[in-house]
Amino acid sequence: MNGQIDWPEPIVRVQSLSDSGFPVIPDRYVKPPTERPASNSDGSDVNIPIIDLQGLLYDDETIFAQISEACREWGFFQILNHGISPQLLDRVQEVWREFFHLPVEVKQSYANSPKTYEGYGSRLGVEKGAILDWSDYYFLHLLPLKLKDYNKWPALPADARQVIDEYGKEVLKLCGRLMKILSINLGLGEDILQNAFGGENIGACLRVNYYPKCPQPDLTLGLSSHSDPGGMTLLLPDNQVPGLQVRRGNNWITVKPARHAFIVNIGDQIQVLSNAIYKSVEHRVIVNATKERVSLAFFYNPKSDIPIEPAKELVTPENPPLYPPMTFDEYRLFIRMRGPCGKSQVESLKSPRDCNK
Ligand code: OGA
Ligand code: NI
Repeated sequence: MNGQIDWPEPIVRVQSLSDSGFPVIPDRYVKPPTERPASNSDGSDVNIPIIDLQGLLYDDETIFAQISEACREWGFFQILNHGISPQLLDRVQEVWREFFHLPVEVKQSYANSPKTYEGYGSRLGVEKGAILDWSDYYFLHLLPLKLKDYNKWPALPADARQVIDEYGKEVLKLCGRLMKILSINLGLGEDILQNAFGGENIGACLRVNYYPKCPQPDLTLGLSSHSDPGGMTLLLPDNQVPGLQVRRGNNWITVKPARHAFIVNIGDQIQVLSNAIYKSVEHRVIVNATKERVSLAFFYNPKSDIPIEPAKELVTPENPPLYPPMTFDEYRLFIRMRGPCGKSQVESLKSPRDCNK
């Protein structure tokens, strides 16, 4: 189906544009006025919900209710006291910062292609002449094991593979715990959501985003507006530099990350499984003139070849299924051809329409 195996034009590392010190960004990175950061940014101190999981030990119901409300109303929340050691979080952040600071020739040896997207990349989508985002990234697979290939992971810094592996295992366990909570909150048995994902045969991958300093941050975005296509995302944001914005009606809320917290968000597949009780919410990233930013997005996904559709238990005559069954493989292929594209992908499952890109 996807015959394309290479990029439509030569890849330019955003980091090299930033390092050149040139005060003007190339036209390819200039967004149309309505997509620029200034439009509708919320200057207030609203933040996404912050939920302390420590409470699970003594006061289950309150925490379950907080998570339920966050999934319904925001599609985004931060979790504190999630059980993953701050030292590991600091080290994995640092490992990736060190990787992006390696000489360009070293990074180049991990250059990715649109065939699998694994490795060091600088664009999403293969549309020739597309407006690009101000970021480089690294994408790798953790699960299923048949896709996990250490040779495609950075060998430097020296402890990179071991730290990424340990981080992946911890985040995976945490996702398993959250899946049970979401399932119970939807009124399903605790394993129903996980089973719908394929039980143990789920997919997991890591996308590390590197947003270099930008001389004209008002004209571009680090990552265009999109919703996450997978099941659930656990984002470890930069602990120094904010940048993530979440859509709230017609406003964009800038997330203020809490120290050593994860930002959790619902992806399109849980929106489908929950028959839209939980929302996969649009978000984007703004960049900064004086500071680079590194974030780690861990994607917890259904097994890629099983049909995902609204859970039977949630479908009634009053609540008919809003989405037809579709495997994650089919869904992802559709998205990757286009690049980030607002909410149009999950919406187009309901009624086909094109995104204006
Ligand atoms: C993503 C994403 C947000 C960030 O990688 O899908 O939304 O803050 N990242 O980098
Ligand atoms: Ni995202």
